[in-house]
Amino acid sequence: MTGCTRIAVLASGRGSNLQAILDAIAQGQLQAEVVGVFSDRPDAEALQRMPAPRRWAAAPRDFADRAAYESALGDAVAASAPDWIVCAGYMRILGAAFVARFDGRLVNIHPSLLPRHKGLHTHARALEAGDAEHGASVHFVVPELDAGAVLAQARVPVLPTDTPQTLAARVLGVEHPLLIASLQLLASGRVTEQDGQLQLDGHPFFSPLALDSARMLQAS
Ligand code: GRF
Repeated sequence: MTGCTRIAVLASGRGSNLQAILDAIAQGQLQAEVVGVFSDRPDAEALQRMPAPRRWAAAPRDFADRAAYESALGDAVAASAPDWIVCAGYMRILGAAFVARFDGRLVNIHPSLLPRHKGLHTHARALEAGDAEHGASVHFVVPELDAGAVLAQARVPVLPTDTPQTLAARVLGVEHPLLIASLQLLASGRVTEQDGQLQLDGHPFFSPLALDSARMLQAS
């Protein structure tokens, strides 16, 4: 992909990952443009980080059913003509029709070392499980929750004194650089996904890239 990569962001909450993308663009680290932020929560803080013409929000309860909501969301996303769609704290499971519509260019950042701890409350669950390490993953989205091919991961230690809150804060600190490194690779066109198989420079790869490797690849 050449030129300025068009990124649409789906977000339900605070939007610190969206802000990390905006900052990386402003600092010249990511040759991209955020073409819209899309939310299931009209009061989401994330929306405030974008100018009004690039915001779309609708509450699913205002639609007849989930299919109708996702069709409207998909139309709004498609109208922004994105190259990539990034779920960054988007707290709804996307249905098969939406996933198929944006197949191969829909990614999510999830706060765990997938396949461990899919779904919610990942930090509390990592502590309960006695995990020595925890972290974040950027993966392609498939209809099954948090089950798509994992592009890259960042790890943090779990400390004996951790609470879910302290662990969440440590993970968030690596989520942002992980998301930017992943988007740099995706925007460069070097990483692709088809039928669940990731390729780097045309070669299949089977294990998630570590954050440091993803950064090194970007420099190479
Ligand atoms: C992040 O931890 C993300 O991984 C998870 O939800 C949180 C969203 O944070 N899916 P923010 O809205 O980007 O600040």
